[in-house]
Amino acid sequence: WPRTSGRTDGALTVGGVDVRDLAREHGTPLYVLDEDDVRSRMRDYATAFSGSEVHYAGKAFLCKEVVRWLAREGLGLDVASGGELAVALSVGFPPERVTMHGNNKSAAELTRALEAGVGHIVIDSYEEIARLGHLAGELGKRPKVMIRVTTGVEAHTHEFIATAHDDQKFGLSLNTGAAAEAVRRVLALPQLDLVGLHSHIGSQIVDTAGFEVAARRLATLLVQIKDEHGVVLPELDLGGGYGIAYVEGDEAPDIKELADGLREIVTKVCSDAGLPVPRLTIEPGRTIVGPGGVTLYEVGTVKDVEGLRTYVSIDGGMSDNVRTALYGAEYTVVLASRESDAEPMLCRVVGKHCESGDIIVRDCYLPSDLAPGDLIAVAATGAYCRSLASNYNYLPKPAVVAVSGGASRVIVRGETEDDLLRGQL
Ligand code: LLP
Repeated sequence: WPRTSGRTDGALTVGGVDVRDLAREHGTPLYVLDEDDVRSRMRDYATAFSGSEVHYAGKAFLCKEVVRWLAREGLGLDVASGGELAVALSVGFPPERVTMHGNNKSAAELTRALEAGVGHIVIDSYEEIARLGHLAGELGKRPKVMIRVTTGVEAHTHEFIATAHDDQKFGLSLNTGAAAEAVRRVLALPQLDLVGLHSHIGSQIVDTAGFEVAARRLATLLVQIKDEHGVVLPELDLGGGYGIAYVEGDEAPDIKELADGLREIVTKVCSDAGLPVPRLTIEPGRTIVGPGGVTLYEVGTVKDVEGLRTYVSIDGGMSDNVRTALYGAEYTVVLASRESDAEPMLCRVVGKHCESGDIIVRDCYLPSDLAPGDLIAVAATGAYCRSLASNYNYLPKPAVVAVSGGASRVIVRGETEDDLLRGQL
């Protein structure tokens, strides 16, 4: 739950606002983002990684207001598309604090990034080296680039979000020599300024050993590059992927320990080889915005399937949170609009879409007097819920409200039926 959440008068409050008031004012489903929680996590990262760069991974959840928070808290931003870059530029975020990612950036996206003057572009393929070199030459720019290295680390997380083993689409492999070949090719192009190496091993990872192995391998590659080319690359970007707690008993890595551990490893490998210690960047997404988010739903039906379980249908579903359907994610859910002493009953919280896999919480206990009109709240939905939302079954995407100091304000307007019909001929 968000750092500022609590209970008043039986109802859940976030940022000092009663969820019943939020539902009355803004409707449901509703994404609620605790501004103080999110901004304090931005600051925690900046403190733990002081001397390093912290780039928020915008894919977790991006909108203009979040970009303003980043600007004020002194963080950088990672974008993975021209659209994400457009959000940042629309509110005047300093382009030099933006890194552009992606395994298949289009020529238009690369051109936009070059014209805007983004701080770094992370190269993901041989084709991209040639493509970016050509575009940079045409525009008379010399972008700072990093090479995304696949370090061969087996991250312990869901298959869809593990990204450092060889058999997946991202990066250039250390094991096969593709990373070393990419270094050669980039160094041969005067239009590209190779400043470092990048690695991202996956997401929702709790065991920090994988991050350390990846950091050691990247630092070792820096040493090899110095030996082979006589070039000292000044930067390492260690990616993001740190896990958060979704249900009771989940563990989450300590940021300070993680920061110290990574720094120590890189410092040791580089100093032992007589190299200066590179500037480090990390790219957390989920850990910054995840815990501060709560999704509010209204219960519509409570169906008891005799002898099995109770199905609680809410007014949203896999269109506002696809993570359970996609990754088998687990969530904590509570009755939010009141307190109840009724016996707990085994429930499955399901959406209103035309799929039996439209599940928000697979197994949970809710009070047996749960009834239509009750509000339930799902915790830790700040990351990868709104950003992965769809309009399946023509459901409008819910609004996002920021809460702080007892007040709420809309930061992303909820879609209307007009929005859904716009653009249709
Ligand atoms: N940097 C790069 C290059 C990434 O690809 C990602 C996430 C991050 C940083 C941030 O990772 P985080 O700290 O948020 O774990 N939709 C999935 C997660 C996909 C993550 C994709 N890349 C989910 O809902 O679990």
